[in-house]
Amino acid sequence: MGGILMTGIGLVGAQIVKQLKQEHGIRPVVLDLHFQWPYLDTILDRGDFIAVEGSILDQQLVADTLRQHDIERIVHTAAVLPLRVGHAAHPGFYQVNSWGTANLMFQARQAGVRKFVMFSTNGVYQFRQHPVTAPVAEDFPSGLSRHNSYGNSKAVAEFLLRELVEDGAFHANILRPGEIYGPVMVRPGDDPIYWLAMLNAAIAGQSYVLENHPEHRLDWVYCKDVAALAVRLLLADATPHIEYHAASGRCMGIYDFKAELDRQFSGNRVELRNCKHGGWNHPLSMNRAKTDLDFAPRYDLARGIADFVEWFRHRK
Ligand SMILES: NC(=O)c1ccc[n+]([C@@H]2O[C@H](COP(=O)([O-])OP(=O)(O)OC[C@H]3O[C@@H](n4cnc5c(N)ncnc54)[C@H](O)[C@@H]3O)[C@@H](O)[C@H]2O)c1
Repeated sequence: MGGILMTGIGLVGAQIVKQLKQEHGIRPVVLDLHFQWPYLDTILDRGDFIAVEGSILDQQLVADTLRQHDIERIVHTAAVLPLRVGHAAHPGFYQVNSWGTANLMFQARQAGVRKFVMFSTNGVYQFRQHPVTAPVAEDFPSGLSRHNSYGNSKAVAEFLLRELVEDGAFHANILRPGEIYGPVMVRPGDDPIYWLAMLNAAIAGQSYVLENHPEHRLDWVYCKDVAALAVRLLLADATPHIEYHAASGRCMGIYDFKAELDRQFSGNRVELRNCKHGGWNHPLSMNRAKTDLDFAPRYDLARGIADFVEWFRHRK
């Protein structure tokens, strides 16, 4: 098999590298802006991947990397996310998620790459225009929406990807995850991550009050389930569909998070104060992944939190 390139070694990317190494003996090339984060050493060995430092916006670097490592398959996780910069319009959404992704796709076509897996988001669905009455399937209307810069930046890239696939550029998949949680680090300049603060306080037995925060009842999914589906798609050639959800198939929010922390940590001192209930009533359907790929998520909230705690306690 030719080489594998992964862009972005963050919350999900680190788990993808780990699974590629442990389950398939594959050592991917990884392109990211920086690799100095000590957090990476708590998840994997530096020898598990070949680091290429730079940006997906750098056309020459991308072209050279594809050629030098004879890249056959790409899993593209690199992005600018609300998790780190907030939800308001941000230039990085369009620079990196739209143009950076387009650059990578055109270079991949040029280099004869066979498979391209693009990370998108459930934020491409047009929930405001179309009422949701059942679990959301991948063919629910998607596209541009008002006040949705992040989702729009991904929707634009999705359209381009489908066009290139129709033109025969490569096999491709679009992965639309729910709200991802798991081992992560907050980098300098990032927004604080509220669920991480809740987890950290519960593990340390410290008091923590989350105040005036929306419930964020969404489809939450553990990072290892997202990584497992991404690896499955990366190593498959043609699949019956292009788009797949990576979700738990359940709606949950900060009240469920708090209840699970109460169950796992007696005397838990994490409190929610004036946090308004609200969010989704229907989750993302995982039927397509089950039918097409025989894939089902393995981590419910209890198991996801337990796995996070295990990681936290055994960090090097
Ligand atoms: N985290 C979530 O809740 C969530 C939800 C839905 C979809 N997604 C999507 O899943 C993917 C992975 O998300 P994550 O949570 O691992 O994000 P992350 O922020 O932890 O990791 C993203 C990585 O991309 C890198 N990156 C950013 N700009 C780059 C550039 N110009 N060139 C090279 N690398 C660059 C960052 O340095 C970072 O390491 C993203 O595409 C994201 O849009 C995430």
